[in-house]
Amino acid sequence: MDGVRLVDHPLVQHKLSIMRDIECSTRSFRELMNEIGMLLCYEVTRDLPLAQTSITTPLATISAPILAGKKLVFAPILRAGMGFLDGMLQLVPSARVAHVGLYRDPKTLGAVEYYFKAPADIGERLVIVMDPMLATGNSAVAAIDHLKKAGAAEIRFVCLLAAPEGIANLRARHPDVRIWTAAVDEKLDDHGYIVPGLGDAGDRMFGTK
Ligand code: URA
Repeated sequence: MDGVRLVDHPLVQHKLSIMRDIECSTRSFRELMNEIGMLLCYEVTRDLPLAQTSITTPLATISAPILAGKKLVFAPILRAGMGFLDGMLQLVPSARVAHVGLYRDPKTLGAVEYYFKAPADIGERLVIVMDPMLATGNSAVAAIDHLKKAGAAEIRFVCLLAAPEGIANLRARHPDVRIWTAAVDEKLDDHGYIVPGLGDAGDRMFGTK
């Protein structure tokens, strides 16, 4: 699929299967989300530019690669996107964070915004938008609309599960935004849930159901 990177690493697939299981506890679900966040962060940053610098080891002076100063913003879509944040920050502790608060209107399935706060220099940074579930794609589109209005110029989207409908919506509205996902499931049900999916990611992560 154009613009979609399927992260099929065995560790990611194994952890995702445990999370899908209805018997997975809230605690395990949250821990696994955090671990997968870290693994997805590894994949989404795979092509960050490197620069050479001089390093003196105990034995010799060499030219060695370091990150070329590309600065990141992690942008979790509240609330389920928070599940990835700690894992990603463990890998890139200097990243800034933009919070995008959206909920889904259960009748229209449209995204309703209730909070937005992003760093002032977002235009100079690579923005990684994160939400475990790319279902209708309406929240992802609304979040990216707002991030672009705030100045974001380079954006990537990371999720755990995607529905074909959500991918089509996001790619149509924001063709410049590539998607990283651990799986593409079959379809959406009438309530906008991904099938087979894993249920409501926020409820399962925070134990609210
Ligand atoms: N949000 C979720 O948490 N789960 C879905 O299946 C769809 C949207």
